[in-house]
Amino acid sequence: MNLFLETVQVLLLSIWYNVESFVHLFVPRKRKNIAGEVVLITGSGSGIGRLMAQEFAALGTVLVLWDINQDGLKETARLAKQSGASRVHSYLCDCSDRNEVYRVADQVKREVGDVSILVNNAGIVTGKKFMDAPDSLIEKTVEVNTMAHFWVSQTAPTSLRTLSWK
Ligand SMILES: NC(=O)c1ccc[n+]([C@@H]2O[C@H](COP(=O)([O-])OP(=O)(O)OC[C@H]3O[C@@H](n4cnc5c(N)ncnc54)[C@H](O)[C@@H]3O)[C@@H](O)[C@H]2O)c1
Repeated sequence: MNLFLETVQVLLLSIWYNVESFVHLFVPRKRKNIAGEVVLITGSGSGIGRLMAQEFAALGTVLVLWDINQDGLKETARLAKQSGASRVHSYLCDCSDRNEVYRVADQVKREVGDVSILVNNAGIVTGKKFMDAPDSLIEKTVEVNTMAHFWVSQTAPTSLRTLSWK
């Protein structure tokens, strides 16, 4: 396709999506019912992961919480139950450790069943300027913020993996 046609296509699509979004301000989209779905949230011992656990709990899901922080997991599980989760299962798991991810994933499969919604949330920040960050911290950041996503996604059932990777 030539540049002119591509530009026209982008303009028309952007008008279409803007009109569609405007209409949906007044006509809400039909929301998917996810009650009973098994939702795995990594890094759910605090912050955004904890907030997502509470949101998913209110929708009647079964929660699987992973974190390296035991106390944080306990508190999230308490809040999730309070918010209406049908069941909450917490596991200590370092997502940057491939073997641990595979081991805990097997345990989840046996104890809870297949995960149908995966939220790869666990992450760290160095809190330092790039040039001041020690090598070990840079390596850890890559392990947690990048490699862990591969290990965790690998453990998902085929149906879910197909969805996540497309
Ligand atoms: N908060 C923000 O403004 C912001 C902005 C952009 C991206 N993010 C990303 O969103 C995600 C959540 O951020 P947050 O602000 O809630 O951070 P947070 O530090 O409050 O929570 C991260 C959680 O991940 C857990 N965790 C860390 N390493 C882990 C590991 N190896 N295995 C398992 N769990 C591990 C921590 O224990 C913690 O409970 C992170 O990936 C972060 O990089 C956050």
